[in-house]
Amino acid sequence: MSFYDLIVSRRTVRQFQQNPIDEGILKAMVNAGRLAPSAANHQPLEFVVVTEKYLCQKIYPFLKWAAYIAPEGDPKPGKQPVSYIVTLVNKQIKTDGYQWDVGAANENMILAGWEKGIASCWLLSVNRKEVTKILDIPNHYLLDSVLALGYPEEDPVAEDMDKSVKYWKDGNGRLHVPKRKLDQVIHFNGF
Ligand SMILES: Cc1cc2nc3c(=O)[nH]c(=O)nc-3n(C[C@H](O)[C@H](O)[C@H](O)COP(=O)(O)O)c2cc1C
Repeated sequence: MSFYDLIVSRRTVRQFQQNPIDEGILKAMVNAGRLAPSAANHQPLEFVVVTEKYLCQKIYPFLKWAAYIAPEGDPKPGKQPVSYIVTLVNKQIKTDGYQWDVGAANENMILAGWEKGIASCWLLSVNRKEVTKILDIPNHYLLDSVLALGYPEEDPVAEDMDKSVKYWKDGNGRLHVPKRKLDQVIHFNGF
C-alpha cells in the first residue's frame, strides 16, 4: 500500500480481535511517536505500553467511546482493545503547549500501527485520575490521552459530509464517518 493509501484508509476502530499484538510492533509504534516533530525539540512526551490483560481490563471502564452514538459504538463484549499506548507529558520538561507534539506523535504511532494491520482509537475521554493510579504514573507526569489498539473487527467507512459531523451506524452495524468535502476545505492562493 502506498503511504498516501495508508493515510486515507485509516479509520478509528472500536471493535477489536482478541489476538495479541507483537511487542516488536508496539515498540516500532512508540519509536515512530518518539521521532515525531516536537516544538523547539523539547520532547516532553513519554509512553506507557500496556500489554497485560489484567491491566487492559482495569483500564477499560475508565474510557468513553463514540459519544455521538453511545453506547452503540462501545466495543462489544469480547471485542475490547488488547493493548494501549498511553501518552504522558513530563511536566519537568513542559506544562503547556505540548498538544501539538501529542498530535504529531499519536498520528505517527497510529499510522505506523496501521501499516502493520493494527487498528486504533485515540481517546481523550479518559478518567485520567483512575488510569494514572492503575499505571502507577508519578506526579510529575500528566496523562494526556490513550491509544486503544488491536487488530480490527470492524471496517468503518469515510464519506462526504452532508449536514452533520455525527458518525452513525447502518443496519449492518457498519460505522459511517462524515468528512467535509475536499472543495469545502481547500483554498488555492487565498480565498
Ligand atoms: C484528539 C482526539 C480525541 C478523541 N477522543 C475520542 C474518545 O475519547 N473516544 C472515542 O471513541 N473516540 C475519540 N476520538 C476519535 C474520533 O471520534 C474520530 O477520530 C472521528 O470520529 C473521526 O473518525 P476517523 O478517525 O475514523 O477519521 C478522538 C479523536 C481525536 C483526534
